[in-house]
Amino acid sequence: AVVLALWGLIGYLLGSIPFGLLLTRAFGIGNLRDIGSGNIGATNVLRTGNKKAAALTLLLDGAKGAVAVLLARHFAGEDAAQLAALLAFLGHCFPVWLGFKGGKGVATFLGILLALVWPVGMLCCITWLAAVAATRISSLGALVAAAASAPYTLLLGQREAAVLALLLTLLIFWRHSSNLSRIRAGIEPKVGQKSA
Ligand code: G3P
Repeated sequence: AVVLALWGLIGYLLGSIPFGLLLTRAFGIGNLRDIGSGNIGATNVLRTGNKKAAALTLLLDGAKGAVAVLLARHFAGEDAAQLAALLAFLGHCFPVWLGFKGGKGVATFLGILLALVWPVGMLCCITWLAAVAATRISSLGALVAAAASAPYTLLLGQREAAVLALLLTLLIFWRHSSNLSRIRAGIEPKVGQKSA
């Protein structure tokens, strides 16, 4: 149990690194909290107009989830990997460093899935890209990909991972409640638009 708790803590600490905030600061492109949705994720970094910073945010927010899973699995096995995955996700959404006001978890979710069950991760990335391409709405693409993740995981016969995917999906929907109301009202900005 101590080992599990340790990997949970390591997962949380990795997940809580707010790459979006750090990168926009490093690039000197303003305060993310005052831009667009105010969120710390790659979608909002893109609203600064800096594509490189947005791509790096997506990559690093994803990588921290993947690294948490791979390290925990390597040193302590599959249960530790699942716990580290959940805690990395929670770390991104509720980082202690930002008064627990973090992001919405999409990039971290994709990184986690790629490391946990890579075919599911690939399918979710493809679903996400396709849905964003079709709707031009980043949050909607994320919600579609999240909703598909548990069914994909089940289809691949990974029951335990499917429970985690379902839990993360619920958390992602919860974190996107303001996006959901904007989508319903038809006012959610499209990729490339600056305001939210
Ligand atoms: O995927 C994050 C994205 O789904 C929502 O970001 O900034 O549009 O609220 P944002």
